[in-house]
Amino acid sequence: MSTEKLLIDSDGSFGRRPANVPFGSLFQLVTAILSVITIVLVIHGGMRLATQDRELSTLKTAVSDYQKEVLAMKAHQEARKDAEVTFLRERVVALEAKLTSSTSANGDINLQAELGDQIDPSVTETTDDGATWRPGAVHHQRAKRAASSVTFPAGACLQGPPGIPGRDGRDGMPGRDCPCRAKDVDECASNPCQNGGTCTDGLNRYTCECVAGFTGDNCETAPLTCPSGYVQFRDKCYQFSTTQKQYNDAKAVCLAAGGHLAVAKDEATDNVLVSEIRQRGSADTWMGMSDQVQEGLWVWEDGSVLTGWSNWSTGQPDDGSSTEECAHWYPGYNFKWNDDQCYHSKYFICEVNAS
Ligand SMILES: *[C@@H]1O[C@H](CO)[C@@H](O)[C@H](O)[C@H]1NC(C)=O
Repeated sequence: MSTEKLLIDSDGSFGRRPANVPFGSLFQLVTAILSVITIVLVIHGGMRLATQDRELSTLKTAVSDYQKEVLAMKAHQEARKDAEVTFLRERVVALEAKLTSSTSANGDINLQAELGDQIDPSVTETTDDGATWRPGAVHHQRAKRAASSVTFPAGACLQGPPGIPGRDGRDGMPGRDCPCRAKDVDECASNPCQNGGTCTDGLNRYTCECVAGFTGDNCETAPLTCPSGYVQFRDKCYQFSTTQKQYNDAKAVCLAAGGHLAVAKDEATDNVLVSEIRQRGSADTWMGMSDQVQEGLWVWEDGSVLTGWSNWSTGQPDDGSSTEECAHWYPGYNFKWNDDQCYHSKYFICEVNAS
């Protein structure tokens, strides 16, 4: 057996307790320090909880305020909707009443004008206060309508939503003619006129004044021109021959040039060509027309049959000797038209399209 004995302490604990070790006071010191730390931590935690409680309550208040605001906004919106619906209903009723009374009174109410469809946007009129009206048919019934009209809250010139009368401030508001303050923008700002054209701003539109020759709403179409050596009239180019040929040879020359012998289907063209012939020495000159295919059926070289305007000399075409099948401007008849044998050699005019 060992000499060490299992000891039982006076406090009831048991264990080996080596004798003469002075740990008792150190142990107590550590315990005391730990206790202090614990107490400090507990107090600090408590304070933090209290702060968080306060913050939470502040947040709750804020959320509740926010919810109240949302509810108020919803209520406000509903009220506005109700007011709009009521307003529109009243307008429909008033319009119906007016239509009925006007129709029975004089039978001339213009329903379309009432609905704002017949307003001519180009017609405007400025009133005393500087407002611009689009009167159209409605304007002219203003006085008549005012007499039997219904006045709306505060007489306001309200503008209805799109698609119903009163839109754009057009007339159509019962009891009130709405002046339309023209929301005019400068349509020329985007420089829509091309090729040096000058833009003029109008009410909701613009116009282009084109540099000479250019055409189209925006002057986008370049002027037509002719190859050099050709005379231009409208969209055609004419080349006057310097040699004389038989009709069919002349015809071939013009086909090879991409056109045909000149046709003069209207008086203006005829006059221009004759004037050019005179300036060039008044020669006997083929035009592009013959009845070679079928006697008596005069066909232009562009394929069309002679109808309508013509400028035959008196008594022509006479199919002299039953062999005259080609038409020409004849100096002997003051350049009115004549028929002649196609085998004669004459000056001629070729025609091509300007481009
Ligand atoms: C017919 O031709 C002649 C001669 O070119 C011209 O003076 C006249 O204006 C033309 N038209 C009519 C309808 O006579």
